[in-house]
Amino acid sequence: MVEEISKLPPLVTSWEVGALKTQLAEAARGERFLLHGGDCAESFDHCDSPTIANKLKILLQMSLVLTHGSRKRVIRLGRFAGQYAKPRSEEFETRGDVTLPSYRGDLINRPEFTEAARTPDPELMLRGYERAALTLNFIRSLVSRGFVDPHRLEYWDLDWVKQSTMAGEYRRMARSIGDSLRFMENLLGVHPGELNWIDFFTSHEGLHLPYEQAQTRRVPRQEGWFNLSTHFPWIGMRTASPAGAHVEFFRGIRNPIGVKIGPTTTPDMLRELIDILHPHDEPGRLTLIHRFGNDSIGRLLPPLIEAARASGRTVLWCCDPMHGNTRVTADGYKTRHFEEILGELDQAFDIHAACGRDLGGVHIELTGDDVTECVGGARGLGEADLKRAYQSFLDPRLNYEQALEMALFVARKMARLNGHHAEG
Ligand code: PEP
Ligand code: CO
Repeated sequence: MVEEISKLPPLVTSWEVGALKTQLAEAARGERFLLHGGDCAESFDHCDSPTIANKLKILLQMSLVLTHGSRKRVIRLGRFAGQYAKPRSEEFETRGDVTLPSYRGDLINRPEFTEAARTPDPELMLRGYERAALTLNFIRSLVSRGFVDPHRLEYWDLDWVKQSTMAGEYRRMARSIGDSLRFMENLLGVHPGELNWIDFFTSHEGLHLPYEQAQTRRVPRQEGWFNLSTHFPWIGMRTASPAGAHVEFFRGIRNPIGVKIGPTTTPDMLRELIDILHPHDEPGRLTLIHRFGNDSIGRLLPPLIEAARASGRTVLWCCDPMHGNTRVTADGYKTRHFEEILGELDQAFDIHAACGRDLGGVHIELTGDDVTECVGGARGLGEADLKRAYQSFLDPRLNYEQALEMALFVARKMARLNGHHAEG
């Protein structure tokens, strides 16, 4: 299967990978902001037009709000077109008196609780490559024509915006951006449609090394190896040991990469990881995605910022306020409290500012659909609401409204830190 996938065309090109690296380098210098988001795990069954289009729309709306608040250009990096493999803390799952292997993502086995579904199947790697290609194909088409034209902000509206308590604030920002755009165009004499300013990049956790390896290759006239299954693979927290196979694989590829760091990461480990993965201080190469939890970030992040600073190398700091704040309700639902998610983010901005740098990005699990997986937010979702539309097989995601609310929160926070107002 690995051999077959290695003969198929790459999903992305080394030029695109290089363009993303350049943009991440700008973010690390404080000139851009990274918006990194999507599903915890994509599912083969939801490789469909509304799911993909809605995800794109919410990421676009968030980026619009963030641009407005930060006065920086935003890098849109999706957790999509390949986010199919998941680390699990339990090897097996037991229901009643039946015990089966855990679900590990559609690239490996299937979520249904049957022996056939849970038996790993190498064919799924090929299905994953194909689904990633189909997803990317649709995204590229949407992005290249009309859909993301900033002059047609109304296309980005999801139906819900009409009823949302945040609709007014969002619309004001959209209008103000539309006005500045038209002003710029009049000034510069360029015409609507000529400004092709939207980029979308892909990323996934590079967990399943045979799959990653299958698309890793050399390209003409460039040195080294590129993982062309995605623009930006990242190393999950459970596989980020400096002595581990994942770090060794990532050391050898030229893509910009992320590493998740959390409560198990010591300053020594981080120093070692930076030495291995970022030896030449190449701009844009390394993004550190921290995920501690609202209660621990204040204690655990500062020593790691100090360790990175002492390495003398430049990294991009990105906050994942989701994975340190996962809880299980009395009914057995995995959830996250919106207030804790915002609490961790809020602290992240302040801690980095106190250390003399900007937080460079956010990493979130979200969907463009109306799910009920995280509690809290403007609608005040409670634990009793979770069963209404809980769809995730794995981690709970922000729904579209919570995602937009988070973007508004971040925009206001950045505007305050930069000393200007986010209101349109
Ligand atoms: C994830 O991003 O879905 C994930 C498993 O994160 P982490 O490696 O930070 O636990
Ligand atoms: Co997750």
